[in-house]
Amino acid sequence: MLYNIGIIGLGTMGYNLAQNMIDKGFTVAGCDKSAEKVNNTNGQQSREKYLANTNSQLFVQSLELPRKIILLVPAGKIVDDVLNELLPFLSKADIVIDAGNSHFTDTLRRVQSLQKNELHFMGMGVSGGEEGARFGPSIMPGGNVDAWKALQPILEAISAKVNGEPCVAYMGKDAAGHYVKMVHNGIEYAIMQLIAETYDLLKNGCGYSNEDLEKLYTGWNDGMLQSFLMEITAEVFKKKDDTGNALLLDMVLDKAKQKGTGKWTSQDAMDVQVPIPTIDAAVIARDISAYKDERIALSKIYSGNRQPTAWHKEEAGNIVQNALLCAVIISYAQGLSLLATASTELKMEIPLKDVVKIWRGGCIIRSVLLKNFYTAFEKDPALVNLLFDETVASLLKENMNGLRQLVSEASLKGFPVAAFSASLGYIDAFSSERLPVNLIQAQRDFFGAHTYERIDREGIFHTQW
Ligand code: 6PG
Repeated sequence: MLYNIGIIGLGTMGYNLAQNMIDKGFTVAGCDKSAEKVNNTNGQQSREKYLANTNSQLFVQSLELPRKIILLVPAGKIVDDVLNELLPFLSKADIVIDAGNSHFTDTLRRVQSLQKNELHFMGMGVSGGEEGARFGPSIMPGGNVDAWKALQPILEAISAKVNGEPCVAYMGKDAAGHYVKMVHNGIEYAIMQLIAETYDLLKNGCGYSNEDLEKLYTGWNDGMLQSFLMEITAEVFKKKDDTGNALLLDMVLDKAKQKGTGKWTSQDAMDVQVPIPTIDAAVIARDISAYKDERIALSKIYSGNRQPTAWHKEEAGNIVQNALLCAVIISYAQGLSLLATASTELKMEIPLKDVVKIWRGGCIIRSVLLKNFYTAFEKDPALVNLLFDETVASLLKENMNGLRQLVSEASLKGFPVAAFSASLGYIDAFSSERLPVNLIQAQRDFFGAHTYERIDREGIFHTQW
């Protein structure tokens, strides 16, 4: 018998995705170099529904045409190695889908290279972690439209659903799927950093205990801040350490790791010249955190920077909640504006409305706010920046004072709130009719004859200052 779809890489993500497909009535062939994984998974399934193999030729031959093969292997050279191994056994119109977090430029190269063999290569973002893969992730596929259509029934069946609508849609041409996933992760970095900054400020500057924070975050998760990241943050504040009575969180080393997707978002935003300062600040905050030894030494030299805020406890909770709402909205606005520009620059034709639609469920950055953003893009699919949407603008204006209060009080009292500051700086600069860069233009012309334009006349000017 021939199986509907193949999965290469039977780690937790790969096998969970396979189980999700089997639950939805599809037959799955698996492939992994590890005989242990192959045997274990074969032992859990009946042969009519699932058959795994260590041999890639036998695996390929067990698939119906056109073959659909999803790779769930670590990004990087392994993807090329797997492709090279598969190539001799594939036939025209077969579809290979990379569901890892690959860099979009690698995906583009692979799309073009497989096209020469009349094969389809698709980059597909999958978000939602292990749980998502098993019970419904948000799926971001991009590439050839016909290849997408061939996959659509399977992907729609296994994806998360919001109001019965699947959290999967075609994300655009070439490497669009991986580009959208990269920006998803950039926004993920920003929101995580913002929440971490609220934790530091409330705990160390406003007298909140861990129990207070658990209650506060749980409460926030009932309102406009309701989201997966808020929900798991409240959960984290419940988990006791196995080795004693302390909260596990208090025992976790404060050095953040990263696999690169946040950094790639910032790097590419700089290349296409789209400002995403909250995401940049979040990447930098992780980088600074890694310098633990230097931080310990410098904390002795600059001790006394941190002082309690002047806020009452309850007042602090409200201010920080309003500030967080603004900064989270601004993080999405930055990420989506990057997608809008990159889509044009790289000719990916990314449908922003669908991006927002499929982020409403299953993914790490799902939140109730996405409903508002979806409505905004329904009204105007060509919206260049969420900040222009009326509902978003009134939400920001209502809560902006909280953002200002947080940034000023935290800065005065020595708390690092780089992601909040970056969010405020972004909206203040973006909403300034006139910026002081006329001075920068004058300086450039002064020292380098770089010329300038005038506000009262057309043309290019140079002055002997
Ligand atoms: C998701 C996550 C997932 C992964 C991150 C972690 O959407 O399911 O984003 O892709 O957990 O890539 O990234 P860092 O290791 O860089 O924090």
